[in-house]
Amino acid sequence: MISYAIVLAAGCGRRMGADRPKQFMDLAGKPVLAHTLEAFEQAGSIDRVVLVAPPEQVGRCEAFVKTWGGRKVSAVVPGGVARQDSVAEGLKAVGDEAGVVAVHDAARPLVLPEQIDAVVGEARETGAAVLGTRVTDTVKEVAGERVLKTLDRSRLWSVQTPQAFQADLIRRAHREAARSGYVGTDDTALVERLNAPVRVVEGRRDNLKITTPEDLQVAGDILRRRGETPALALRIGQGCDVHRLVEDRALILGGVEVRFDRGLLGHSDADVLSHAVGDAILGGLGAGDIGQHFPDTDPAYAGVSSLVLLQRVAGLVKEAGAEILNVDATVMAQRPKLAPYIPQMKSRMAGALGISADRVSVKATTTEGLGFVGTGEGMAAQAVVLIAHRKNAEGAQKG
Ligand code: CTP
Ligand code: MG
Repeated sequence: MISYAIVLAAGCGRRMGADRPKQFMDLAGKPVLAHTLEAFEQAGSIDRVVLVAPPEQVGRCEAFVKTWGGRKVSAVVPGGVARQDSVAEGLKAVGDEAGVVAVHDAARPLVLPEQIDAVVGEARETGAAVLGTRVTDTVKEVAGERVLKTLDRSRLWSVQTPQAFQADLIRRAHREAARSGYVGTDDTALVERLNAPVRVVEGRRDNLKITTPEDLQVAGDILRRRGETPALALRIGQGCDVHRLVEDRALILGGVEVRFDRGLLGHSDADVLSHAVGDAILGGLGAGDIGQHFPDTDPAYAGVSSLVLLQRVAGLVKEAGAEILNVDATVMAQRPKLAPYIPQMKSRMAGALGISADRVSVKATTTEGLGFVGTGEGMAAQAVVLIAHRKNAEGAQKG
């Protein structure tokens, strides 16, 4: 199902009082509208964008799209006198194949792609959805200077854009508003008149609408802060493995064959180092352990190189939208001397994980002759990893 976004940029920014409409003013190094279009470029739920431009600036906006990206922009159309007219003009350029249509003010450049996705997803399921925040001030109804009453704050929300709708619903709402001459301050108001349900998706206060010069300054501050602390969650993982040393087996550590008179016993190649690393990564993802993913009862893994297991684990990292920042591992072995093999172990494991070798550290230690490692009964390995989850954990939540 194809989803469209109508980005409204046809206003003249009277309250800003600048020499050009506010959507073309600079915000942290690029025009306001460029920030807005970028959020829609990044939103996975949006396929096409209709940009509604000031009527005398359609050509300029087409050039703008070329300069500032906007590969999804399928049409640039002239807007109308009021915001609602501009939405109606945008709707005409939305194809018949559209399933969902999102409407967004170009003057809200701080919207996050995941907020767009949340609203579009909700509308796809329920018909209509809007991003909003709970009201924290006490709100009063006033006539002149006299307070008439205090509204029940627990039921009040401030709504923003994007607002998203199933395509036939928003078309019907605009037709009905045009027929009856109703003018609303947002698009959900038009849908509410049809008695169709509208869901609110809880967003963030910082999705502000730039209206005055002060707003532009606040938006710049917010963007600078976001740049300093990119949405990033760090997770640590640890792994540990032990295998028995036996005769007539190759000794494989970190994907490298090490010359020795014995080797580690196991269902796969018994690469104790790769197993500890794999378990650490799965731990950092909160995704169980390698025994669960690669059971030793499964003949498919008999004798298989543990580098293949690391490759699969790296695939899970990617699927989770995460990245391995570094791996640090220690092999415990009384003999043989492992130092000469360590550079190769690092590069083999890094290769399997799809990261650069400088992100992988391998160390080796004896146990001073103590314990099962010291007597040469077996070897052990430990690893820790740091994983960055880049998905924004503070995105939109359903309200
Ligand atoms: N908008 C539009 N067509 C109009 C009026 C507004 O596309 N005829 C757009 C604006 O460009 C803005 C959004 O609707 O992105 C919200 O409107 P608002 O913040 O009121 O912007 P302006 O109308 O430009 O500002 P002002 O009211 O201060 O003139
Ligand atoms: Mg306006």
